[in-house]
Amino acid sequence: MGIPTETVYGLAGHAFDPLAIARIFEVKGRPLTDPLIVHLGDPEELSRVARWESDAEKALVSKLAESFWPGPLTILLKKNPDIPDLVTSGSESVAVRVPSHPLFRQVLKGLGAPVAAPSANRFGKISPTSPRDVLFELGKSIEAILDGGPCAHGVESTIVRVSGERIEILRHGPITEEDLRKFGQIVSSNRNGNTPGSLAGHYAPGKRLSILEADIKDLIPEPGSAFLAFRQPAPDVAARFHTVEVLSPEGDLREAAIQFYGHLRALDQSAAVQILAEPLPEEGIGKAIMDRLRRASYGSLHQTGHSG
Ligand code: TXA
Ligand code: MG
Repeated sequence: MGIPTETVYGLAGHAFDPLAIARIFEVKGRPLTDPLIVHLGDPEELSRVARWESDAEKALVSKLAESFWPGPLTILLKKNPDIPDLVTSGSESVAVRVPSHPLFRQVLKGLGAPVAAPSANRFGKISPTSPRDVLFELGKSIEAILDGGPCAHGVESTIVRVSGERIEILRHGPITEEDLRKFGQIVSSNRNGNTPGSLAGHYAPGKRLSILEADIKDLIPEPGSAFLAFRQPAPDVAARFHTVEVLSPEGDLREAAIQFYGHLRALDQSAAVQILAEPLPEEGIGKAIMDRLRRASYGSLHQTGHSG
C-alpha cells in the first residue's frame, strides 16, 4: 500500500511478514541487498525491533528520540532477531524511525505492528511526494494509496548511526547537521556505495540532468533546455529556457526541499530535451537537496535502461 509520510510517500508492509516484504522489493524492482527502514508508532516499541549495544548508545538514542521523534530522523540500531533478514538485507543493523504523519500513525496504531517502508518509487527513480506521484510510479502494481496530501518536508529522513558520543550522518535530510550538533560530535560518513541512500545513481530523471557550474547569466543553453532554478531567475534568463521550475522564489531552503522532487518530476515529464539545475547553498536542508541533485545527475547520465 502507498502511504503518506512527512518526508516522502512510502510503500508499506508489515515488518514481520516476509511475504509482504518480498512483495515490496518486487514491486519496486529493488535489489534484495538494499535494506528497508522500519517504522514504529511509538518510541516505546523500540524493544520490538532493536537491542541496545551499550548504555552510552541508549542514552544518546533516547535523547535523539525525545527531540526528533515522531519525525524525519532514522537511527541504525542492533537488530532484534524477530525482524526478518529480508528487511535488513541480512545486516545485523536495523534502520528505525517513528514517523509524524497523522495518517501513517493511525495505520501503525491500527495494525499494532512495525511497518517496513521504502520510498514508493521504482528503484533508482524520483521519490514521490504526492499520491499522484505514487500512482505514476507504482500504480500498475499496487492496490491502494492513502491520500495524505503533499509531504511536509519533501526529502527523505536523515539517517544516523551513533557510537559513544559520535553521530555519523549516513544520509542528509530534514534533521540537519546543525540540529544534531547539540547532541554529539558529528562525523562525516565514509561513503562507499554501501552506506544508506548512497547509491550514486539514485533519484534519477529519464532526461539528462546537469548541475550548473558557470554563472547562469553567462549561459546560453542548448535550445529546448529546462531550468530547475533555486530562486526566481531574472526574466531574460528565464526566457532562454523551454521550461522553468522555481524551487523557492525567495530562496527558502525548506520550501525548496518541499518542491524539489515534484518540480524535478514535472521537468522530466515536460517536452524539454535536458534539465539544467541551479546549485543550492549547502547549509541546513540544502545539504540534503544537493545530495539528491548530484545523485539524480549521476543517475541521469548513467541510465541502465530498465526501470529497476
Ligand atoms: O523518509 C524516509 O526515510 C522514507 C519514508 C518512507 O520513511 N523512506 C526511505 O526509504 O527513504 P528508502 O528505502 O527509499 O531509503 C532508505 C535507505 C536506503 O538507502 C537503505 O539502504 C538504507 O536506508 N537502510 C535501510 N535499512 C538499513 C540498514 N539496516 N542498514 C543500512 N542502511 C539501511
Ligand atoms: Mg528511496
